Amino acid sequence: MDHTVRVLVLGKTSQLGLEFKSALEACPFTKNWSAEFLSRREVNLTKVDSLRKLREIPFDILINTAAYTEVDKAEKQQQRCARINALALEEIASICARNNALLIHYSSDYVYHNELRRPLIEQDPTTPKSTYAITKLLGEKLLKALHKKYFIIRTSWLYSAHKQNFLKTMLQLAQNDKPIKVVNDQQGSPTYAADLAEGTLHMIQYYLDKNKDESLHGTYNFSNTGSTTWYGFAKEIFKHAGLAVELVPVSTDEFPRPAKRPPYSVLDSSRVSKSFQLDIPNWQDGIRRCLETINS
Ligand SMILES: NC(=O)c1ccc[n+]([C@@H]2O[C@H](COP(=O)([O-])OP(=O)(O)OC[C@H]3O[C@@H](n4cnc5c(N)ncnc54)[C@H](OP(=O)(O)O)[C@@H]3O)[C@@H](O)[C@H]2O)c1
Repeated sequence: MDHTVRVLVLGKTSQLGLEFKSALEACPFTKNWSAEFLSRREVNLTKVDSLRKLREIPFDILINTAAYTEVDKAEKQQQRCARINALALEEIASICARNNALLIHYSSDYVYHNELRRPLIEQDPTTPKSTYAITKLLGEKLLKALHKKYFIIRTSWLYSAHKQNFLKTMLQLAQNDKPIKVVNDQQGSPTYAADLAEGTLHMIQYYLDKNKDESLHGTYNFSNTGSTTWYGFAKEIFKHAGLAVELVPVSTDEFPRPAKRPPYSVLDSSRVSKSFQLDIPNWQDGIRRCLETINS
């Protein structure tokens, strides 16, 4: 079979990696693409020797969904978090540069953590305030210093039918038949990982159709459109799930956590929408479809 595009995905077991697997199988334009998924066992981002195995694998596009994502635990595992989220990017970006491959890397709304209180655009100031956020921003910078063919995609409040995430936690808590306290003073944009995976495939296809137009390289926000609080997110989950749960709105102060959360990190995704002619569904529709997948 003649493969026109060879895709390599790091983070086989991530929420996003699992959604890439489904999206690549379902997508009409990826039929003659080949995709290989690597887990931590195959390539460990904390080990340079292990990362160097990537040199032996031929690919045109590398999608890095692997990351240290335990935001609170990161405060006690700073070095490990930095190795995975930042230092590994030096090796990954160098290998992509050597292969002249497109590198797609995911970053976070947490890198902004500014006081603007309006939907954030890519040029807004970045003042990350937790180990996770600082290492994600450093990863972006190391990548950009070593390779120019990249899409850095900053996303937020990711959830899916797989693994543990806010939506799954809410459904589990609902089983206890007790009131659930949820933070109501942090604003953000919940993002269904399936929409992010499909959107990324669309970005790739658009880029290929435009003969790998260099002007498309760069940093993009990507979340489902609209915004809410964690409380609003929970309310919408239970509405679509048809569950009568007593929700109690609380402030961030009532839930002290080791890592600081941005009070406002709504992402403005219009740049990616305009650049790639991409329609991104709203956050409520993402929840509806995720619950359909869970129930099917
Ligand atoms: N989750 C969110 O709310 C959120 C928000 C904004 C941005 N993001 C970003 O979006 C991307 C995808 O997030 P996600 O929620 O899909 O991630 P996830 O489900 O938490 O998965 C993280 C992945 O990284 C892998 N990993 C961890 N340490 C590794 C190591 N040393 N070597 C190799 N692989 C390693 C994990 O492998 P194992 O299964 O073996 O541990 C897992 O596949 C990440 O870049 C994340 O920073 C996430």
